Amino acid sequence: MNDKSKVPVHVSIIMDGNGRWARQRGQERVYGHSHGVESVRACVEAAVETGVRYLSLFAFSEENWGRPDSEVSTLMGLMFKAIANEMAALKKQGVRFRVLGNVDRLDKELLTSIRDAEAMTAPAPGVEPVLDLIIFLSYSGKWDILQAAKKLAKKYASDPEGLENASLDDLSGLLVTAGVPDPDLIIRTSGEQRISNYLLWQAAYSELLFVDTLWPDFRKEEFRSALEEYSKRNRRYGKVK
Ligand code: IPE
Ligand code: IPE
Ligand code: MG
Repeated sequence: MNDKSKVPVHVSIIMDGNGRWARQRGQERVYGHSHGVESVRACVEAAVETGVRYLSLFAFSEENWGRPDSEVSTLMGLMFKAIANEMAALKKQGVRFRVLGNVDRLDKELLTSIRDAEAMTAPAPGVEPVLDLIIFLSYSGKWDILQAAKKLAKKYASDPEGLENASLDDLSGLLVTAGVPDPDLIIRTSGEQRISNYLLWQAAYSELLFVDTLWPDFRKEEFRSALEEYSKRNRRYGKVK
């Protein structure tokens, strides 16, 4: 893609289909999850190569806590391992790593390693990261809107007129994604065509792309073709163009 203006600033991916990928191979679901980590690495590289500035990945939803304990702990274990294994390389590439979501529900040890990784990859003052890598963990869109609404109500607890005048930007600034531009492109793998309670507010004008590829098979080539597809979209934002 030569036209830089057609490269999305923020690409977000609902990484789905690990279980089916494993089943197709006669393996347990966890086998798919561990191969999914390879796809994360590939997409980070592809994002850096193509000039995408923000890559966010839906790794675990609030609803996913309802899966069997063994699967939940495997997923959390993979997260822990990935942080330990990948952070030095991410830092070296100039990638800023962050985890967003209802992190109070996470195991304390995992949360500590997340906070350490965030501090380690935080850019020095005045330095812009090559890529912001955001992992949504224990995240749901409705939860995010609710926690922002509660903060807004608290902020204006003794100022009803202030609350009356609160703007869309005021609420946006209280979502966990405050300061992150809304996704230009949201990709969902595995053929499912739904949002599954992901970025509800932030997806207001995102381009949606549903691909049949299962997440463990979604690598650089698939990432690049998604960007190609995006470059053909005509974003009108309700206007005439
Ligand atoms: C995505 O793959 C990973 C998570 C949601 C944590 P799935 O585990 O949902 O795989 P399928 O959809 O059952 O194939
Ligand atoms: C969505 O996938 C959540 C993540 C990819 C983290 P799910 O597999 O949980 O979604 P549903 O249940 O098919 O909607
Ligand atoms: Mg799924």
